[in-house]
Amino acid sequence: MAKAVDIRNFSFEYPDSGHVLADITLDIAHGEKVAIIGPNGAGKSTLLLALSVFIEGTGKILIDDIVASKKNARKIRSVIGSVLQNPDEQLFMPTLFDDVAFGPMNMALTHAEIVKRTTEALQTVGLEGMEKRPPHHLSAGQKRAAAIATILSMSPKIITMDEPDTSLDPRSRKNLTDLLKSLDQTLIIATCNMNFAAGLCQRAILIDKGAVIADGPARQIMTDSRLMESHGLEVPAAFTD
Ligand SMILES: Nc1ncnc2c1ncn2[C@@H]1O[C@H](COP(=O)(O)OP(=O)(O)OP(=O)(O)O)[C@@H](O)[C@H]1O
Ligand SMILES: [Mg+2]
Repeated sequence: MAKAVDIRNFSFEYPDSGHVLADITLDIAHGEKVAIIGPNGAGKSTLLLALSVFIEGTGKILIDDIVASKKNARKIRSVIGSVLQNPDEQLFMPTLFDDVAFGPMNMALTHAEIVKRTTEALQTVGLEGMEKRPPHHLSAGQKRAAAIATILSMSPKIITMDEPDTSLDPRSRKNLTDLLKSLDQTLIIATCNMNFAAGLCQRAILIDKGAVIADGPARQIMTDSRLMESHGLEVPAAFTD
């Protein structure tokens, strides 16, 4: 059966910063919830960008058996939706409603279905009633929720989220965790927040300096204090019992 994500010997470098990802090989099955953990600058965001073909490197990436290449970008992005690290890059329409409806409008859906998906996605992230607000006037936490809604409204098979817990207060973070737990989709979450990762993901992939350092059960990896500390991370409170 097709893997959700199948990465073979993938390497990438930005023109001005040398190797950022070096020879990454891993796969993720449909339905898995995986945390990509690692310190600042490890390459987490870059890896997620590669999955949605915002960047291209060497080696091979298959998303649900489709080769991640610029040629297939449209197809790939109908299967995988990415919540970017910076919500301002995701919100560009005059109103919140338009931003969340943008994806569904490009999916050949009926008007009624577009409105339904948009309304539901906004409700899910707790932003109902704010439909007419310009996204750039939202608070940081509300922008984060809005960016997540722009992806939920498309209901892609695979969802990547880059530090989705940033700027969220504890209640919003708990709501997001509950929401993400309830989704059947494959979830790939990049985060430096080990408590958030521990509460959500059964599997963790630790990357540092662009390489996979460890990949396995989240509890096993995250309770290895020497491993975690040597990569600038901490053992989450949830696992210290
Ligand atoms: N657009 C870019 N051009 C050049 N170098 C970049 C660019 N974006 C990131 N880098 C470099 O690539 C490396 C990996 O960056 P990346 O953003 O993937 O890390 P990260 O693990 O997501 O970090 P963080 O936890 O801070 O979000 C870093 O050394 C960074 O300086
Ligand atoms: Mg990042």
